[in-house]
Amino acid sequence: MNATIKDIGREANVSYATVSRAFNNKYGVKPETRARILEVAKRLNYSPNGIARGLVNKRTKSIGLIIPDITNPYFPEVARGIEEGAKEQGYSVFLCNTNWEHDRQAQYIELLAEKRVDGLIIAPVSNAVDPAQERLFNSIPVVYVDRPPQNTQRSYVVIDNIRGGFIATRHLIEAGYRKIGFIGAVEQSMPVDERLEGFKLAMERYGLSIEDRYIKLGHFTQEAGTKLIREMIGGGDYPRAIFAENDLLALGVIEGVRSLGLAVPADVAVVGFDDIHFASFENVQLTTICQPKYEMGKAAVRILLEEISWKEHAARGGARNGQQADKKVMTACAEETENAAVSAETSGGRQVVVLEPELIVRKTSLIT
Ligand code: HPA
Repeated sequence: MNATIKDIGREANVSYATVSRAFNNKYGVKPETRARILEVAKRLNYSPNGIARGLVNKRTKSIGLIIPDITNPYFPEVARGIEEGAKEQGYSVFLCNTNWEHDRQAQYIELLAEKRVDGLIIAPVSNAVDPAQERLFNSIPVVYVDRPPQNTQRSYVVIDNIRGGFIATRHLIEAGYRKIGFIGAVEQSMPVDERLEGFKLAMERYGLSIEDRYIKLGHFTQEAGTKLIREMIGGGDYPRAIFAENDLLALGVIEGVRSLGLAVPADVAVVGFDDIHFASFENVQLTTICQPKYEMGKAAVRILLEEISWKEHAARGGARNGQQADKKVMTACAEETENAAVSAETSGGRQVVVLEPELIVRKTSLIT
């Protein structure tokens, strides 16, 4: 059985309160008494229970991470960066998957707050801001990753989705394609809205017409990509290149094109977004926009842990000052590129990190 604080007090001949004071480095314990208590604790193999320690320190050294879709390999890769960054600082991470459901998101936020996590990192279901949750975030630090709610005043880490959509489309135009379609998601969120905006910007910049019949929207799944491209091709008049809003959709598009006896890229070229693990597989070779997913996770957890420290500092009456405009350079995805530019700003005590997207050209967009 594990030793308790009481056991240590009995053995060291001091009160429970003195043991607690010694563990928490509080005043009123003589150095020699503290040394004796720590020696007894070590001898009895005492290991403090995280929750009990949290109640004393008002910290549980844990954070909550809420993602919308654990089956999309993009999110676990971001989670890996968060977990690594947290572990380096002695924090553990509780991972929750909302399956794109608002109710589940609300339940998880409440549950994690009850578990007294020190902070939250959230990739929310949508743009919508829930006022009750926003009030809660006044007491629990929160950092958004990938898809912050519209007009949020909280910190967040994202990629420049407009630029990503633009360079993906520009690549197809420069490869000689003129009839270019878009397959994306119906929901309203920063990645969805901005990737489409980037697509339209590139088409307009190069004087190409945006045809409504070449734009199809569904869900962020491989199945949706297959269904939507089959519908488009089935109509007879179809585009010769597709920009798909994420790699799962792009994989579905490739599947759909092939299922109709056509070839990628000879009949329809495909560009995706995210550069998930499967994109580089030999029989996939998907041209895509790379997001430095691991680094995004690390940036998000760095900011969150800073915010947790500021909160504690403020609780002790300290001022939140000396916060500098934050300029960081992070590693990009492609090996040949040393760094991806990152712009970051701080305003009103929050940090916004926008990472630079990078085009990775593979076989699905190359005419050979
Ligand atoms: N949704 C779906 N796939 C994604 C997203 C997203 O918000 N971001 C990156 N890949």
